[in-house]
Amino acid sequence: MSTPRTEHIAVCPGSFDPITEGHMDVIRRASQMFGKVFVAVTADSDKTPMFSVAERVAMAQEACQDLPNVVVDSFDGLVVEYAQRRGAVALVKGLRAVSDFDREMQMAWMNRQLAPELYTVFLVPHPDYAFLSSSLVKEVASLGGEVSQFVPDAVYKRLLDKVGRGQ
Ligand code: PNS
Repeated sequence: MSTPRTEHIAVCPGSFDPITEGHMDVIRRASQMFGKVFVAVTADSDKTPMFSVAERVAMAQEACQDLPNVVVDSFDGLVVEYAQRRGAVALVKGLRAVSDFDREMQMAWMNRQLAPELYTVFLVPHPDYAFLSSSLVKEVASLGGEVSQFVPDAVYKRLLDKVGRGQ
C-alpha cells in the first residue's frame, strides 16, 4: 500500500530522543494509511532528554524528508489537545513487545477518557526493530557500540557527536 487510503489526519507522538529506525517504520506505515501525519515531539518529558526539542525535531525532519505527507512538529501539554488542534482522528503508536503493553494501554485508555472521538491506533514495527528503543541506542552508542543500523543517517553523526565519538 503506497497511496494513503484516506484524507484523515493522524498524530504520531513521542519523545524521539532520538528518532530510530523503529519509529521510522511506524511513521512510514502511518504515512501510507493516513492523508497527513504529524510527527509530534513532546517538549515536556519526565525523562531528561539527551537532545533538545529543536535537535529532536531537526533530526526527525531530516529523516522524514522523503515522506511528503509527514510534518514534524513539537508540542507541549496534552497530546489529545494537540491532536484536536491539528484536526486529527487518530494517535498512532508503535507497539513492540509485551513490555510496552501496560503503559500504552494506560495512555490509550486515558486519552480515550479525555477525547472519546480520537482513536488510538497501534502499529507493529518490523521484527528487526521489535526490541529497539532510543534508550538502548543511546546506551550502546555511549559505550562505543555500532548503532548505524538502528538510526536514520540524520541521527547517526549527531549521536556520535553527543556521546563524544564524533570525528
Ligand atoms: O516516546 P514516548 O516517551 O513513549 O512518548 C510518550 C508520549 C510523549 C506519547 C506521552 O508521554 C504523551 O502523550 N505526553 C504528552 C502529555 C500527555 O498528554 N499526557 C497524558 C497521556 S495519557
